[in-house]
Amino acid sequence: MSNQKIGFTETVLRDAGQSLIATRLSFDKMEPVLGKLDEAGYYSLECWGGATFDVCLRYLNEDPWERLRKLRAAVPNTKLQMLLRGQNILGYKHYPDDVVRRFIRASVRNGIDIIRIFDALNDLTNLKVAIETTLEAGAMASGTISYTTSPVHTLDAYVKMAKELESMGVSTICIKDMAGIMTPANAYDLVSAIKDSVDLPLVVHTHSTTGMAFMTYLKAVEAGADVIDTAISPFSGGTSQPATETLAIALRELGYDTGLNEKLLFEIADYFKPIRNEYLEDGTLNPISLTTDTQCLDHQVPGGMLSNLLSQLKMMNALDKYDEALKEVPRVRADLGYPPLVTPTSQIVGNQAVNNVLVGERYKNVSNEVKGYCRGEYGKTPAAIEPEILQKVLGDEQPLGGRYADTLPTDTFEVAEKELGERARCEEDVLSYIAFPQVAEAFFTTRQEEEEKRVSYSIRAVD
Ligand code: CO
Repeated sequence: MSNQKIGFTETVLRDAGQSLIATRLSFDKMEPVLGKLDEAGYYSLECWGGATFDVCLRYLNEDPWERLRKLRAAVPNTKLQMLLRGQNILGYKHYPDDVVRRFIRASVRNGIDIIRIFDALNDLTNLKVAIETTLEAGAMASGTISYTTSPVHTLDAYVKMAKELESMGVSTICIKDMAGIMTPANAYDLVSAIKDSVDLPLVVHTHSTTGMAFMTYLKAVEAGADVIDTAISPFSGGTSQPATETLAIALRELGYDTGLNEKLLFEIADYFKPIRNEYLEDGTLNPISLTTDTQCLDHQVPGGMLSNLLSQLKMMNALDKYDEALKEVPRVRADLGYPPLVTPTSQIVGNQAVNNVLVGERYKNVSNEVKGYCRGEYGKTPAAIEPEILQKVLGDEQPLGGRYADTLPTDTFEVAEKELGERARCEEDVLSYIAFPQVAEAFFTTRQEEEEKRVSYSIRAVD
């Protein structure tokens, strides 16, 4: 029996919600349970970044920065963690370095302790600025490997990447299996290999999509993983993470020290059960997302991407093409040099697969994103793009030689600040606007109107 410590990152406030209910959990719905989450003994709470920022502004009429400050106030003892898409920050394209730096400093200033930083192509030049700035700001940088399988994603390649991340000074290494395709055997080998070559805590992130996750975590822990990502049971399973309570009990019985208060975990689960049921009843939570889909082991389509594919085809009245589109995804991925499928490459590959199937001729209709991808605007691809596809997409145009962010304007922040004028009340507002211009503008307008309404109510009340 070992007394190995194993940390738990709770994902209910970010990834679980993003994977099951399109990130619709509002702050009001999480607020009553934050005290218990803070006391339960988690290594960290993943609660910000990823899609939460966009959804706060777009659908929940919440200022994401305000949400973060409230989370920080309600969770004084546990590390708050966010997910950052490297040079993409929280968006879908690369931003200039100055914007990346400002965004990270503001995230840390408003309460973030750990930033998990990944790049969809595992191109380290897209992680460098974010990692440096996170460390300078005094937070932990979790250097992330986006996990996928392909002829070029070998054990050696992953170990090499982990060593490079270590030399960049990261605080921890994270293996991010966004599609839930990492098998127990592969997890054991990969974790062992990284632990043998790198002297840093290792975090493993997976999803229950294919049903592997519990076994994968067990083998990862046996191989020396230090932290695993889980979701409290009502928001666990399917495209989300495996259940926190289940792993806490299983690992404790095997002699691991989880640091978790299991009684509190059950109370947290009790709190979330009726909330989960509401989402089931109003259709936000599709029961299919909770089932096991082994097909993913073949097509590698992450949870969030499956539902996108479905709704796209539904909109085009082409649901009968679903199976064909699903088969086209791995073909497009191979053509494009085997990118891991995670935001934004999941959307880029998914949309092109749908295009290819709907048009009936492959790459006849090419999206701007695929053009940008082929030019090198997302970084260096894991393998070379198929030459004839490159030729078909770019014609005579030459791909970029260097780093795309170096070609971007350096005054993005100042220009945005000027455009917003008085509507921006702080640096955070400007950053929201740079990330999601129309959405942020609409949010600022609503905010203003609501405040004016509140003022007039309070005047009436005084009368
Ligand atoms: Co995930």
